[in-house]
Amino acid sequence: MDSHELVKIANEIKNRAYAPYSKFKVGAALITESGKVYTGINIENISFGATNCAERTAVFKAVSEGETKIEAIAIVSDSTDYIYPCGICRQVLSEFGGKNLKIICTNGKGEFKEHTLDELLPNAFLEF
Ligand code: THU
Repeated sequence: MDSHELVKIANEIKNRAYAPYSKFKVGAALITESGKVYTGINIENISFGATNCAERTAVFKAVSEGETKIEAIAIVSDSTDYIYPCGICRQVLSEFGGKNLKIICTNGKGEFKEHTLDELLPNAFLEF
């Protein structure tokens, strides 16, 4: 599956975001090594710290279905600026995608930039 397709799937799910506090809707779509696609949206909470980002929703859905190897993830929002995963999501993505995970960051104009996880989270903590 190419990046365009993954972005399209992320866009299709975005409006399911539960974001009554920030009003900032985010959609994510990932593909696993075995070719399965999982989507996610941000799910906010009145206790703000309990909010879950779209990226982690997609990752947790995949992992809970037994899919622990992620190849690529696309992230979309309505912002005209590019959206990048937050620090917590970068760490979680590192666990299941490794250094070469492809992160497809989009802006509201339908453009996208591809990065590896290693570019966005250099020197990640991967073993102890
Ligand atoms: N958010 C995401 O879902 N993913 C990101 O990459 C950045 C932020 C969500 C969290 C919160 O619901 C809203 O966007 C505003 O921060």
